[in-house]
Amino acid sequence: MATQLFEGKEHASYYQKFRFEPTQEIIDLIFSYVDERLQKPYGFAVDVGCGTGQNTKILSQYVKKVLGIDISEAQIEEAKKASGSPNVTYSVSPAEEMPVGDASVDLLTACASAHWFNIEKFLKEVDRVLKPGGCLAIFIYFADMEVHYKDRSEQMTEVFAEVMNILVPYQHEKFNNMKTAYKEIYEAIPYPDKRRIENIRTKIQMPLSSLMGLFLTFPAFQIYLKTEPEKAKEVLRTAEERFLRIMGTSSTETEVEVWLQNLVLLASKPQ
Ligand SMILES: C[S@@+](CC[C@H](N)C(=O)[O-])C[C@H]1O[C@@H](n2cnc3c(N)ncnc32)[C@H](O)[C@@H]1O
Repeated sequence: MATQLFEGKEHASYYQKFRFEPTQEIIDLIFSYVDERLQKPYGFAVDVGCGTGQNTKILSQYVKKVLGIDISEAQIEEAKKASGSPNVTYSVSPAEEMPVGDASVDLLTACASAHWFNIEKFLKEVDRVLKPGGCLAIFIYFADMEVHYKDRSEQMTEVFAEVMNILVPYQHEKFNNMKTAYKEIYEAIPYPDKRRIENIRTKIQMPLSSLMGLFLTFPAFQIYLKTEPEKAKEVLRTAEERFLRIMGTSSTETEVEVWLQNLVLLASKPQ
């Protein structure tokens, strides 16, 4: 089952440590849509498939009360440990059956998670829990990332892509079909007020050590580690050595810039 992919405790702790938050551009895009449709202050947001709370924490700066839900106990446990916001709570729950009342939610978000859901059931549940005029924001960044460093970006991106290619046989089909899935999700949203914003490029600075950690957050890498532990570790070792050689440094704390392609789907339930 797709949802079992995030159940390992060690995986969840890597996820908490190395998986990045949505960038401010994406958050601004979402809230400029919400601002046009809802009265401030916003009362209640639910972040669905919240993982270890990457997006949930950010919502807490804009909305009075935020609930993060995820089907994985391990992810929720890590989210709770890392939570510093008094207005955020977390709960283990499927996206298709949310622990909230009818017409109670102002904003519902799903960051990098909706491709794992049963979309028909999820969208029915969205319709049940959203207030009239309430907003839905589904967003994703894709795995074909670029790694930039000075004039060496092409070689850096090549190494990243080679590791991702090694992982293809271990990827779940839902992951491999992600781009198509988001087209289908958009078409299935039953509201006339909906938008699809594609090809949004965002950039995140991180030390090389965090980029190496990012590989550990991919479910496919965890499966590779379980099935071929020595080979998987060797792939990471070799990739790190190659990155360092290309960068001409010996420090994994040297910063690189990761460029992401994002897609944002926005919709609002009719009044
Ligand atoms: C790639 S992670 C995204 C986590 C986080 N939102 C982020 O931005 O990094 C996908 C998450 O969706 C969760 N998930 C998968 N299927 C789910 C479902 N049916 N209901 C709730 N959560 C689900 C997984 O457990 C996992 O934590």
